[in-house]
Amino acid sequence: MKHGWRLAAAAAAAALALGAGPAGAAEAGDVAQRVEALLRQMTLEEKVGQLNQLSGKEFTGPATDKVRSMETEIRSGRVGSMLNIKGVPDTRRLQALALQSRLKIPLLFGLDVIHGYQTVFPVPLGESASWDMEEIEESSRIAAREAAGSGIHWTFAPMVDVGRDPRWGRVMEGAGEDSYLGARIAAARVRGFQGKQLGGVESVMATAKHFATYGAAIAGRDYNAVDMSEHLLHETYLPPFKAALDAGAATFMNAFNTLNGIPATAHSGLQRDILKGAWGFKGFVVSDWGSVREMVVHGYAADLPDAAAKALVAGSDMDMESNAYSTGLAAQVRAGKVPEALVDDAVRRVLAKKFELGLFDDPYRFSNAERERAALNDPRHRQAARRIAGKSIVLLKNEKAALPLRRGLGSIAVIGPLADARRDLEGGWIVKSDAANLASLVDAVREQAGPGTRVTYAPGCDVACRDDRGFKAALDAASAADAVVLAVGESWDMSGEAKSRADIGLPGRQSELFDALRAIGKTPVVVMMAGRPMTFENVAEQADAILYAWFAGSEGARAIADVLFGAVNPSAKLPMSFPRNLGQVPISYQQYETGRPVRDEKNIVYKSAYIDSPNTPRYAFGHGLSYTRFAYRDLRLSASAMAPNGKLTLSFTLANTGKVAGAEVVQLYLRDPLASVVRPVKELKGFQRIELQPGQQKTVSFSIDRDTLAFHNRKLEWVAEPGKFELMVGSASDDIRLRDSITLTER
Ligand code: BGC
Repeated sequence: MKHGWRLAAAAAAAALALGAGPAGAAEAGDVAQRVEALLRQMTLEEKVGQLNQLSGKEFTGPATDKVRSMETEIRSGRVGSMLNIKGVPDTRRLQALALQSRLKIPLLFGLDVIHGYQTVFPVPLGESASWDMEEIEESSRIAAREAAGSGIHWTFAPMVDVGRDPRWGRVMEGAGEDSYLGARIAAARVRGFQGKQLGGVESVMATAKHFATYGAAIAGRDYNAVDMSEHLLHETYLPPFKAALDAGAATFMNAFNTLNGIPATAHSGLQRDILKGAWGFKGFVVSDWGSVREMVVHGYAADLPDAAAKALVAGSDMDMESNAYSTGLAAQVRAGKVPEALVDDAVRRVLAKKFELGLFDDPYRFSNAERERAALNDPRHRQAARRIAGKSIVLLKNEKAALPLRRGLGSIAVIGPLADARRDLEGGWIVKSDAANLASLVDAVREQAGPGTRVTYAPGCDVACRDDRGFKAALDAASAADAVVLAVGESWDMSGEAKSRADIGLPGRQSELFDALRAIGKTPVVVMMAGRPMTFENVAEQADAILYAWFAGSEGARAIADVLFGAVNPSAKLPMSFPRNLGQVPISYQQYETGRPVRDEKNIVYKSAYIDSPNTPRYAFGHGLSYTRFAYRDLRLSASAMAPNGKLTLSFTLANTGKVAGAEVVQLYLRDPLASVVRPVKELKGFQRIELQPGQQKTVSFSIDRDTLAFHNRKLEWVAEPGKFELMVGSASDDIRLRDSITLTER
């Protein structure tokens, strides 16, 4: 099958001939006409230029030969887009070069604005723990506003890869293990970045990445191969991408991994058949960094020109930093190996976005010093960062009323390698660190503890925690204090891209520091910072209170202190299961029933079990506590049976039975107990974040229709099969409070 891709090329060209080009509304029609008029004037080299994206890191340094040659490329119309250029002066300078080219086609400036531009929000996995779609949209909107003022047209976010293996460092960038939650979050982020319509000067184009299955890298090792059934692909890994597309995502990015032997970058099944075919995507696909070139290393392309041909033919429109298209694509077209119609299609897609952004009308409209200044200095952005961080911090455990801390204590010792951290609070993938302007946790506790409270600090060790030389000072500080807060976890650069870990425990001897505190009779309140779920069995068992704060952003420390002192009542819920040990990984609440399920952990002989660990996670998907209590009562169904085109409503009463105001994320799960394909024991189908005053109660309703009950059958058709369905409502995937069942009738 060496030349199988040629067949794909022919098929794709035929599909184009059948009229898959842009069409639709009047505005789209105008854009299409302007695109065609321009395309007709372009040489093949100029077309290829539009598909070539280069990194501009060098432009911030001295004018080297490389910089000079890139400038020449831009002036000659051989570059369509740049990444890693930001700020008004640099974006204007490079745009001016592009406007010296024959056809004066403006550049697109793309950047990884992942969880904030200047104002840093919690890492995406942390923010996902808020389950708060309005806030997630808001943080993306703020990031877009700051970036757009600085000349950025396009962010390489959101990452919508489902992640079920916490060894994979990039779970930090996603929304966790669940495709329903992931789809809702994907849509919220796209709405936030793009605003109502492309072209607003406070919006940027979004990118749904990495298409597809990048999160399922074998053994959690970044860039590794993926082997996956079509069923799992459609059921779990694609829905967040589809949701991003439905929300209007302007671009997609493909992925580094191979999927069942084919590099995602040259996967025509994914890019042409599904994305541009079945889903009708009209935007463009950018490759991942160097992923076209890497197909030579994979052993899938003979050389750069061959890689260029395979990627373009399979639907990768723009080449990020491989220089493969610029090196070989024109020659491959002339040699008859790539139909020029496919190049034209890719160019049309890119040009259309430049028109939609208004760049042909004013190439500098995003690079606006006044708007940049206003956006970067807007105090509301930091306020939002604090509020959203507060909603993202998960209270994993709280016994003996350890939290919230009482104000007016005589003294508090803030201990641990992350207690005075600033840079780590920001997490990975930020545009630029502003650590000097952040409060650390020690600072924030000092701010909030009140004037009568003495706050002491000792790190105990650094994050790597290779030795215990600093333990004594930490123990001394703790023994003299009325309360002890211990901040442990990862440093910012331990999760993210290329940061897979084979051991996801607390680094070094950090947990010994916890043990040492216990040994002197002090049980600290534990604050954990990390970009992934970690394993920490002794802390989980022996601590009274644990807050999982992720990397909480510019205002993260203040938000943690808000929760520690009860100014904010925690409401976040885990978007990923926390395993007890690495042996349970990959892990998800969405298990399939085996023929030998464990019903009772004491009876596991010849059951689907481990002989040395329970099956259950340490903390389940959806878990997260509050300082108040919620009662779930009176499940009601508007009907117990539903026809295929029908609808029914499930409602129940949620009451705040505790003493303080709080918010509960109520979760609706489904099980289809008998189907033509075995279904998961539980699937999330809905959730709502409900705020209640003490003593207050509310009726909560979920609407159920055919789509709630449907799944991909053996032929990958989306079907709802008649029969019984179990509905479960709860506070976590392992804390179901109400259940009932319904029947889907034949007609
Ligand atoms: C990452 C992408 C990112 C790109 C550009 C790659 O290494 O996988 O997610 O957008 O670099 O920085």
